[in-house]
Amino acid sequence: MRMRKLKHLTDRQQRCQAVWIQDPEAHWGHWPDLYPEATELWLEIGCGKGKFTALTAEANPQALLLGMERVPEAHVMAMEKAMEMGLQNVRYLIYDAQKMDKCFAPGELDGIFLNFSDPWPATRHARRRLTHRDFLARYAKALKPGGKLWFKTDNTGLFEFSVKEFERSGWKLSEVTRDLHADGVVGIMTGYEEKFHAQGIPICRLVAQYVGAEP
Ligand SMILES: C[S@@+](CC[C@H](N)C(=O)[O-])C[C@H]1O[C@@H](n2cnc3c(N)ncnc32)[C@H](O)[C@@H]1O
Repeated sequence: MRMRKLKHLTDRQQRCQAVWIQDPEAHWGHWPDLYPEATELWLEIGCGKGKFTALTAEANPQALLLGMERVPEAHVMAMEKAMEMGLQNVRYLIYDAQKMDKCFAPGELDGIFLNFSDPWPATRHARRRLTHRDFLARYAKALKPGGKLWFKTDNTGLFEFSVKEFERSGWKLSEVTRDLHADGVVGIMTGYEEKFHAQGIPICRLVAQYVGAEP
C-alpha cells in the first residue's frame, strides 16, 4: 500500500500502545497470553487500514485477532480504529510476512486471512505474491492441523494463480467462488472490497486447509 507520509506518526503510534505489539518475535509461542479469554488465534496478513480486522474482532469475541502490516502509515490507522472502538481482542504488528516463522511457533494459529493482497502481476515478481508456494509453506507450518486460511481478491489473475499454488502445495479448497456477493453481501467487507464492490467488480474468495502432500 502506497501512502503519503503521515504527520505526527510517532505521536499517533504512541497513543496506541494498548494495541501495538512492538516486539512481535518475543511473543513466539506465547501469543494467547495477550488475551487469555480467547480460544482462537487469527492473523490477518496485510491488514491495511484495518477495517476488516476491527470488525472481525468485534464480531468474534472468542478470538484474538492480530493485524500484520508492513507499512507504518497504514498500521497506525488500523490501530487508531481499534482504539476508537474500544476493542480488547485485537493487536497490531509492523512486520513482513516473509519472516513470519520468527514470529509464530509451528501450529500456533487457528486461522489466517489474506484480503486483497498485492497482485504483483509481472511474472518476475511472482515470488512476492502472498499466495506463492513459498508463503503457503510458511502458513502451513504456522497453522494448527485443521486451521483455515480465508483468501479474497478482486484480481482474477491472482486468484487463478493462487488456486493452482494451493492445490499443488497440499491444500484442500472449499467455498471457492468467483462472485462472492452475487446474491447480496456475504461476511465482513474490507476497505478495498467495499470500493471494488461499489464499482461492480466481482470478488473471488476461497477457503483453504492444509492437508499435506500426497504420499
Ligand atoms: C492492497 S492492500 C489491502 C489492504 C486490506 N487488506 C484491504 O483489503 O482493504 C495490501 C496490503 O498488504 C500489505 N502487505 C503486502 N505485502 C505484505 C507483507 N509481505 N507483509 C505484511 N503486509 C504486507 C500492504 O502494505 C498493503 O497494506
